[in-house]
Amino acid sequence: MKSKLVVLVAVAVFLAAGWTSMACADQSCVAKECHAKLLDNKYVHGPVGAFECQMCHVKIGDHKFKFDIEGADLCYECHDKKDTEAFVHGPIAAGDCTGCHSPHSSPYKFQLLGDGQNLCFRCHENNKTNQKFVHGPVAAGDCIACHDPHTTPNKYQLIAPGNDLCFTCHVDKKDEFAAGKSIHPPVADRCTNCHNAHGTPHKYQLSGSVPDLCFGCHVDKQEQISKVKVPHKPVLDGTSCMGCHTPHVTNDKPLLKAGGSDLCLMCHDTQIGTVSNMKGWLDANPDKHGPVKNGDCASCHNPHGADYYRILVNYFPPEFYAPYSTDKYALCFGCHNKEISIDEFTTTLTGFRNGDKNMHFVHVNKSPKGRTCRACHEVHAGTQGKHVREKVPFGKLSYPIRFTKNENGGSCVVGCHVERGYDRVKPVQNR
Ligand code: HEC
Ligand code: HEC
Ligand code: HEC
Ligand code: HEC
Ligand code: HEC
Ligand code: HEC
Ligand code: HEC
Ligand code: HEC
Ligand code: HEC
Ligand code: HEC
Ligand code: HEC
Ligand code: HEC
Ligand code: HEC
Repeated sequence: MKSKLVVLVAVAVFLAAGWTSMACADQSCVAKECHAKLLDNKYVHGPVGAFECQMCHVKIGDHKFKFDIEGADLCYECHDKKDTEAFVHGPIAAGDCTGCHSPHSSPYKFQLLGDGQNLCFRCHENNKTNQKFVHGPVAAGDCIACHDPHTTPNKYQLIAPGNDLCFTCHVDKKDEFAAGKSIHPPVADRCTNCHNAHGTPHKYQLSGSVPDLCFGCHVDKQEQISKVKVPHKPVLDGTSCMGCHTPHVTNDKPLLKAGGSDLCLMCHDTQIGTVSNMKGWLDANPDKHGPVKNGDCASCHNPHGADYYRILVNYFPPEFYAPYSTDKYALCFGCHNKEISIDEFTTTLTGFRNGDKNMHFVHVNKSPKGRTCRACHEVHAGTQGKHVREKVPFGKLSYPIRFTKNENGGSCVVGCHVERGYDRVKPVQNR
């Protein structure tokens, strides 16, 4: 520190030791009838406490409170410079130390002119603490937890750059985010892409509420979601995007709360409205359809909504009976061979044939009462091979199918029909 300061500290210590009787030259200035109020506070500036008025005010004799040094330079006579970093706070650059500090004394530590946020709001408009959701340290008036009042290497007088600022307090988040396999790019970039450091009308000081916050960047998603004919309720209701996604990091791409079918079964583990309990169904039916076994529900359902019945990604008839057209089974034929319902005769395409007579063709390829795939197959899972269903609905009733599969074919007895069978090794007729 500067030499004048050293002298003064010595004087201050000397006085504190109780030798106040050794009247200082300027003690008269703070006599009751004069400037007594200058000292009348809890926090008194070093040289003032030592009655060294002339350290700053020259020509005290003529009672003119002039300075031989002005502005910040006066303070720098004894204190280290406060404008040494790349970013210098407005009043410091203007030499206005007394914009925040009393040169004499004040009720606040460091002879500040206000405590906490009130100091800042002497000059800054308060659009920060009067929000509905205010950030912890801001609510506590602790502006300097993040801002250096004097000078810093960081923009906005921040004590640390970028996300490091947030991680100085949110240490747990730092660890959590580093541990995730995949991070949302705007989170890696900066937390303030979504959170306001001070306060906003939205929970968690978010700059907007979900889903609008998300749509701010994911414009294409908004467009897609607004256009679908069959919406998926959770996408816009309730917690919206947060029902399935995490905002920050994940082990289940893309930013999902859980992987595979676990995601869907978080909610579909109970009957919702007219939608049946899928978890219950899957648990009870061990013979699972390929993509279901792989947990890939999204191969058939668009989680954000779709143009087809049951948010399916492609056409599948909603009805039990439907006049045949190949397009109506676009969902199934996205993965399976469409010829199984087009070719009347085959010895290779399907195991569901009687000799070379394609039984898929027989049942499905009909008008008006073509059997849709669901007439025989459970789409998700069943108890028997090829997830053939156990019962078919018939009006308000349902009849068991009683499907028996054997080495070369199979048979079924539906309701009161007689047993029907198919046999792949039946001799092929000459055609
Ligand atoms: C560290 C430097 C410093 C010391 C020491 C100091 N002053 Fe000051 N004083 C100032 C500054 C700077 C101002 C102008 C204040 C402003 O601009 O707000 C000032 C202003 C004043 C004023 C006029 C404005 C006011 O605040 O009422 C009086 C009177 C005064 N000082 C008296 C004294 C007396 C008496 C002492 C000794 C007990 C003293 N000062 C010690 C820096 C000092
Ligand atoms: C003549 C020397 C001198 C001048 C000029 C001076 N100060 Fe000080 N200042 C001191 C001394 C001595 C202390 C007491 C140091 C201590 O307690 O460690 C002090 C303490 C302070 C403190 C409290 C620091 C702490 O750690 O508690 C602040 C704030 C401060 N001064 C601000 C200013 C400002 C602002 C100015 C200019 C208006 C200024 N000083 C001018 C000598 C000076
Ligand atoms: C915008 C308000 C503001 C201005 C302007 C300001 N200070 Fe400060 N100053 C503070 C605050 C707030 C603290 C308390 C910091 C803390 O608690 O860490 C402080 C603390 C100090 C301290 C004691 C702690 C330290 O950093 O050494 C000194 C000395 C000091 N200021 C000197 C100055 C000087 C010299 C100037 C002018 C060049 C100045 N201040 C201008 C707000 C200000
Ligand atoms: C004496 C008046 C004054 C006080 C008190 C004051 N400031 Fe400032 N502040 C300014 C000025 C002047 C600027 C520069 C404004 C500009 O460049 O547009 C500024 C700029 C800032 C900036 C940078 C703004 C930007 O857009 O780059 C921040 C952050 C800031 N102040 C925070 C604080 C905090 C926190 C406090 C309280 C510890 C505080 N200020 C107290 C006058 C003050
Ligand atoms: C948790 C850290 C934190 C706290 C606490 C904090 N700020 Fe900030 N402040 C920031 C960040 C970060 C920015 C940069 C803004 C951005 O990136 O959007 C900023 C920007 C600012 C700005 C300039 C831009 C603006 O919004 O006007 C001012 C002025 C400011 N803060 C004042 C304050 C005041 C006054 C307080 C106390 C009431 C305070 N800050 C408390 C982190 C904080
Ligand atoms: C000075 C310490 C500090 C810094 C720096 C800080 N925070 Fe905080 N933050 C807190 C405190 C304290 C709370 C309140 C905790 C509580 O209520 O449980 C909080 C709460 C939050 C919350 C709400 C959490 C909840 O569960 O309600 C969010 C979001 C948040 N901070 C984000 C940020 C971001 C983003 C940054 C960086 C711009 C940041 N914080 C910097 C201390 C800090
Ligand atoms: C893409 C936008 C976005 C970014 C960027 C972002 N967050 Fe969040 N954050 C959110 C959303 C949305 C929530 C609310 C989550 C909810 O409702 O479950 C949240 C909640 C929080 C919470 C409170 C709930 C919790 O998880 O504890 C904290 C703390 C938090 N964020 C810290 C951070 C930090 C620190 C960063 C930067 C490293 C950051 N956030 C970056 C969107 C974001
Ligand atoms: C500030 C802009 C921004 C905001 C706000 C934002 N995102 Fe993102 N998001 C991105 C960018 C950039 C990417 C990476 C490029 C891409 O895949 O489009 C991304 C990627 C994603 C991904 C794909 C990740 C992957 O691994 O492929 C999901 C899912 C996502 N965001 C969801 C959300 C949700 C939910 C919200 C609202 C809480 C949100 N985003 C808010 C910018 C943003
Ligand atoms: C019901 C669960 C669910 C909800 C709610 C949800 N998503 Fe998704 N989202 C997913 C799944 C699952 C994927 C992965 C899709 C895939 O694998 O084809 C995904 C992928 C994404 C992707 C990256 C790939 C793509 O499709 O572009 C973005 C971006 C995205 N979602 C944004 C959002 C936004 C924004 C919201 C809120 C409006 C939202 N999501 C709501 C489940 C959901
Ligand atoms: C956050 C909870 C939630 C998650 C996660 C969720 N759903 Fe849903 N789902 C619902 C709700 C609520 C409905 C609407 C039920 C109703 O109609 O009342 C629904 C409806 C459906 C429907 C019927 C749509 C219709 O209108 O016919 C299907 C199919 C569906 N969900 C599949 C999925 C799939 C596949 C996933 C995983 C990618 C998934 N859901 C994840 C809550 C969820
Ligand atoms: C191979 C395509 C396919 C896959 C994979 C698939 N679904 Fe489906 N899902 C469908 C079809 C087709 C329907 C309509 C069935 C009907 O109405 O007969 C449907 C209907 C539903 C329904 C509504 C059930 C009802 O009738 O109430 C839910 C819920 C559902 N699926 C959830 C899921 C979940 C969860 C997964 C992943 C475990 C999944 N789906 C995987 C094709 C699929
Ligand atoms: C996303 C691709 C995909 C879609 C769409 C799809 N499947 Fe499948 N399907 C598979 C896979 C993979 C298997 C398992 C094949 C295996 O194990 O050899 C399979 C197996 C089957 C089986 C049992 C075959 C066997 O050999 O065990 C039947 C029956 C079946 N699917 C019917 C359907 C029906 C009906 C639809 C339309 C509602 C459909 N599939 C849609 C991929 C799909
Ligand atoms: C009348 C009942 C019935 C209908 C309707 C039906 N299937 Fe099948 N399907 C079967 C039977 C039975 C088998 C088992 C044949 C065997 O291996 O013995 C089978 C087998 C399959 C297989 C396994 C591969 C093969 O062909 O052997 C697939 C894939 C398949 N069906 C898809 C479909 C699709 C897609 C639809 C709707 C377009 C459909 N099925 C409609 C009864 C039916």
